[in-house]
Parts: sequence; C-alpha cells; structure tokens
Amino acid sequence: MKQVAGLQSPTWLQRTQYITNPVGYWEKAYQAYPDAFWAKGIDFGKRLLVFYTPAAAQQIIENRSGQLITTAFDSELRAIFGDSSFFTLEGWRHQQARKLLIPMLHGKHIQSYGELICTLIKDVLQAVPFDRPFNVLEVAQDISMQVMIKLLFGSYHQARYQQIKHLMVEMVSLFASNIAGVPLFFRFLQKDLGLASPWGRFLKQRQQMQALIYAEIADRRAQPNQRDDLLSLLMLATDEQGQALTDEELLGQVLSLLFTGNESTAASIAWSWYRVYQDAEIKAKMLTELNCLETPRDPLSLMRLPYLSAVCNETLRMYPVTMFMIPRLVKSTTEICGCQVDAGTLITVGTYIIHHREDIYPNPKTFNPDRFLNRQFSHYEFLPFGGGIRSCIGGEIALYQLKLALATVVSQFSLKLANQRSVHPRRRNTILAPIQLKMVKGQ
Ligand code: HEM
Repeated sequence: MKQVAGLQSPTWLQRTQYITNPVGYWEKAYQAYPDAFWAKGIDFGKRLLVFYTPAAAQQIIENRSGQLITTAFDSELRAIFGDSSFFTLEGWRHQQARKLLIPMLHGKHIQSYGELICTLIKDVLQAVPFDRPFNVLEVAQDISMQVMIKLLFGSYHQARYQQIKHLMVEMVSLFASNIAGVPLFFRFLQKDLGLASPWGRFLKQRQQMQALIYAEIADRRAQPNQRDDLLSLLMLATDEQGQALTDEELLGQVLSLLFTGNESTAASIAWSWYRVYQDAEIKAKMLTELNCLETPRDPLSLMRLPYLSAVCNETLRMYPVTMFMIPRLVKSTTEICGCQVDAGTLITVGTYIIHHREDIYPNPKTFNPDRFLNRQFSHYEFLPFGGGIRSCIGGEIALYQLKLALATVVSQFSLKLANQRSVHPRRRNTILAPIQLKMVKGQ
C-alpha cells in the first residue's frame, strides 16, 4: 500500500499560506506529491487527506462501498451557517434535506426564472455609473444575491428582504480580507470581544439575520398564503413520517442557500467577465454566436449555445471557486487508489489541482474555451460542482445565472477592463475570487 505524505512545514505556517495564497498552496502540494497529500493547512477539526487524480475522484464520488459518509464537521462553516444547515447536518437528516431541495432547484421550476434573472441582471448593470471603474465582484454579488432572495422569498424590494441583503453584504465582506478572515480559520480567535472585534461584529450580524428570517417564518405561519417561492415550499414540505421542518431547520436551509449560492456564483460571473473582456477574439466569437440566434433574448435558447457553454465551462475549470469538495468521513478502513485510508479520516477531492493537471488539460494556465468544444471531459476530470453524496444542489441555477449574465453583458452593454493588470485568484471567505477586478461601463 502507498503511504500518503504531507508538506513538511509546520501547521501554523501551512494554514497561513492557505489563507494568504491558496493557489500557491495547492501548486506546492501538487509539485511535491502527484496524487494525494495531507493538507495540514486546512482545518476541519482534524487532518484532511486530499486526492487529486480522476481515478480517486471517481472512487470518492461513486462511493460504491458506502464507506464514505457525510459528516457534520466542526469548521468555519458551522460558524457561518449555524447548527441546522446543510454543512452541519449528517446521515439521513442530510439526505432528507437534499431530497427536499433538489427538485425545487432543478428543471422547469428553475427555467421559469430565466426572464426574471435577465431583468435583474439588466437592472443591476443599468445602475452602474458610466465611465467610472466599478468593482466587478460587488456587481456580480448584487446580481446573485438578488436572484437568490427572489427565489427564496418571492420578492426583492420589500424592506425586510432589503435588510437581509444588506446584512449578507456586510457578513460576507467582514471575513473576506486576509486579516479579518483569520478568526474563521483559527478557532481560538473566535471570541466575542464586542463590536470592535471582527468576531463580535460577525456574531451581532448573525443574530440580526436570524431575527429577520425567524420574523419572516412567523409572519408566514400566521398568514398562510399561496406562494411558490423556496421558503414556502420548504415550509410545506414534510418527511416520510409527515414531520415538517422546525423553525431552526428552516433557518439553516435559508442561510445555506443565501450564502453558498451567492458567493460562488458571483465569483464565477466575475471571472467569466474578466476572461472574456481580456480576449477580443473570444468576445467576438461569443457575439457572432449570439447574433445568430433567432430569439436572442430567450433564456432557454441562450442556455443551449455551444460556445457560450464552453466559455462558462472553461471559467469554472480555470477558477473552480470551491477549491475542493466538501470532506467525507471514512466509516471503516478502506483503500483509495492503492492508499490505505484509516477509519475516521476526513478525505476530499482537490478540484483546483485536477482542473490544472497538464495531463488532462494541456497548457492549463491558458484560458481556452475550445478545449470544451473539442473534447468531452468526464465527471471526474471536470467537477466544479463536486459529485455524489454532497454534490452542489444549486449547480443548475448557478450555471443559468452565469450564462445569462455573460450573454447579457456582451450583447447589451459596453464594458471594458479598467486596466490591463493580471488579476490573481485570492481567497474570499472559503472561495477563490477576483477581488481586485475593476471594469468600466461605457455609454
Ligand atoms: C458557480 C456557482 C457554484 C459553485 C462553483 C458551487 C460549487 C459547489 C461545490 C463544489 C460543492 C461541494 C460538492 C461536493 O462536495 O461534492 C457545493 C455544495 C453545495 N452547494 Fe454549490 N456551488 C455553486 C452555486 C450554488 C448555488 C447557487 C447554491 C444554492 C442555490 C448552492 C448550494 C450548495 C449547497 C447547499 C451545497 C451543499 C450540499 C450538501 O451538503 O449536500 N451552490 N457547491
């Protein structure tokens, strides 16, 4: 059996490297170990074993032996989402939550939101001032937040939803920087030292957010109404025993959807704009494809465009905003691609490394959408939304937003990059984002 090794530097140094330069951290690990390594830099309460070959990804995603289980882990995610969210549920309660939400986030239910998403995208872009550099991530975040709030609550402009949006912006920004984000990664810094400390401010905002969502649930219970937004569907849903979700469980689901959906979709939208506006040829090809459409504003026709899809896939390949899959717990000692993995180990798939492997993606640092037109990649080579027992439940709606946001800006707005400086991926909360990216809107 092969032994998996880990980087030699001390844990605190690895953790600092992971916080300040996650891409460098992954690249260093890959150079040292071609298949797998122990990632001491990432704290999930215990050591994390990261595999990054397609064969290992397949074994982990398929989980044929049933040895890998979901686990409620004690990590930064618990601090953000609380005790009843997707990230802190386990076993059948986790499966139950997935069963409930997945149909609500797929197929016809989502497709009917196409027009609305396009309108929200245009509204946000129209509000951007002309001829002044704007922060792309903030604009993309505005789009994804508005879409998610609309999906969840059915309305956006009502005062309470505006407050929720405002708090979301504050909470995700609070830990976005390297310095302020440190408490998320070092548990001993998670101390409430009042509003002057990042952790104290975070706790206060979390409390306010909870109060707003509980108030919304209470109002809806007091005045049941026929609505088809996600919160209403969640409130109506029951498990096999006929049990409805408790208020705390509803809160957990709402928070998971608000936060996971928003940050990762926004970062992917921003990356796609960055790449397309950096390369005139790619933008021209996209425009040619869009101009050939008989119904250019029809969201479902846009979704099917091959080149637009290839550009979005290449964005998700090059910038897998979620750098690794959610860890799985090994139930009893097992073997993964020739390595013995002991019971109780937390394992994951290193998406960032797989997406940058030269043997799968030649010239991985080159943004080349054509690679997705020329070859079909397997689910274990291209896995921006993970797979298996914890696969992303919002992949379809995220891809919908990504494609519609890109098609809308390219065909209906005049944008350009504010400067020619390269933008490097930086950690923002738990994802990789183009933090400094600026663009300018022309007349
Ligand atoms: C481009 C945008 C997005 C990316 C790249 C992304 C990526 C991911 C990844 C990699 C995972 C872990 C999968 C695994 O471990 O197998 C995940 C989980 C999850 N995602 Fe997404 N996601 C995105 C958007 C969304 C949206 C819009 C939503 C909500 C509507 C969402 C909700 C979730 C939830 C709830 C989980 C946890 C699932 C579970 O624990 O069973 N994501 N996402």
